Amino acid sequence: MIAVVLLACRREPSSTDDAPAPTTADTGTPGDTFREPPIAEDLDPDPSVVHVRLRAAPLAYEVDGTTIEGFAFEGSVPGPTIEAELGQVLVADIVNDLPHPTTVHWHGLHVPAAMDGAGMPMPTIEPGGTFTATFELTQAGTFWYHPHLDTAHQVDLGLYGAVVVRDPAEPAVDRELVLVLDAFGEEAAAEHDPHLVDPTSSRWAVNGVVAPRLSLPAGTRVRARLINASNAGMVALRDQRVIAHDQGLLPTVVVGDLLLAPGDRAEVEWDVGDPFDVIRLPWAVAGGEAWGEPSPLLTVETDGGTAPPALAWPTREESPTPDPGRTDLRFLLSGSPELGWEMNGETFPDVTMPMVGLGEEVVIEVRNVSPADHPFHLHGHAFEVLSVDGEPPASRTIEDTVDVPVRSVVRLLLLADNPGFWMTHCHVLPHAEGGMMTMIEVR
Ligand code: C2O
Ligand code: CU
Repeated sequence: MIAVVLLACRREPSSTDDAPAPTTADTGTPGDTFREPPIAEDLDPDPSVVHVRLRAAPLAYEVDGTTIEGFAFEGSVPGPTIEAELGQVLVADIVNDLPHPTTVHWHGLHVPAAMDGAGMPMPTIEPGGTFTATFELTQAGTFWYHPHLDTAHQVDLGLYGAVVVRDPAEPAVDRELVLVLDAFGEEAAAEHDPHLVDPTSSRWAVNGVVAPRLSLPAGTRVRARLINASNAGMVALRDQRVIAHDQGLLPTVVVGDLLLAPGDRAEVEWDVGDPFDVIRLPWAVAGGEAWGEPSPLLTVETDGGTAPPALAWPTREESPTPDPGRTDLRFLLSGSPELGWEMNGETFPDVTMPMVGLGEEVVIEVRNVSPADHPFHLHGHAFEVLSVDGEPPASRTIEDTVDVPVRSVVRLLLLADNPGFWMTHCHVLPHAEGGMMTMIEVR
């Protein structure tokens, strides 16, 4: 049924606009040239507004020789990168040319509840329908957008893109890159789960290309913005110079291995001298280090030369906030692939919704008693990580998605400053869909 619709769409593109019809996108083969997602065109000359169009439609595309009968925004997987500056207003015309209802959620951005693409009431965009999201961009950093309806399916098929919000006060680099990461399985499958994520054996694509090669002149300083857009795969990278997490620049740079759970973002600096590989370590959602060999996520090619000295990012005297010791909200994560996934012993949508007062500081404790990691995500807000198993983070860090490892306790400090009903869930999307999701009311 779906395949028939896809074929029909591909042969008879809608004539209501001049956008490219759903077609077969070009092939990503290992060792292909690195490519960046297109930049969303700003349709409004007003410098205080960025006005983009995001048309979701079926698209057949190929990754590493596997054809995916997928979905895409603006005919591209990843979808176009939305670039903006702090303080600008984003206007996004979302056009649904999918054969299913959809929404667009702005992951990590403090949008008003009515613009969140999720929550209550669910603002569904029916097939053939449109919705215009409008909100001010009040945070600098790397964010992303994706549907929040039939989420595991629609994201898996290719509906995701980056939102880059720049603060002109931040130091300039020679080259900025967006890297949207997604895992693809070995099987071509038509209707669902084409990526069939087995995170330890999957092929990882960077902007749709597996193990791409990126040529840069020696001496280049790169700010690479990484987004883990996969449904269920962990990305562990060896030895990175980490300058930012979910919610922008860290007060101090952290050098070491970097773990990105689904939904997570981070920014790293590469100071290019001799050629190098960015190495991905085998990592499993069920418990961390995994069987397998480290392999290149991408290869940076250069003529060779001296690496420039690392950039002096502005350092702030901010240490992690001391844990206030009390606990205001608790989330117990439990379940298994066989039994389903629960939060506080409940399965969405049959949940008890906690309420917190607007403006309150809320200490949240998330305890994982299940055999898999769960990246905990809260909409419309960000939180500080107080500790993971009692250990404060290396640098004070503000997140909207934080991995809660197997049998671990993560403590968070939330300023509940955005009124509404906000979804909170595991960002391993099959877990969320399996019930590991609830809502918090802020009022
Ligand atoms: Cu990135 Cu509730 O989602
Ligand atoms: Cu989970």
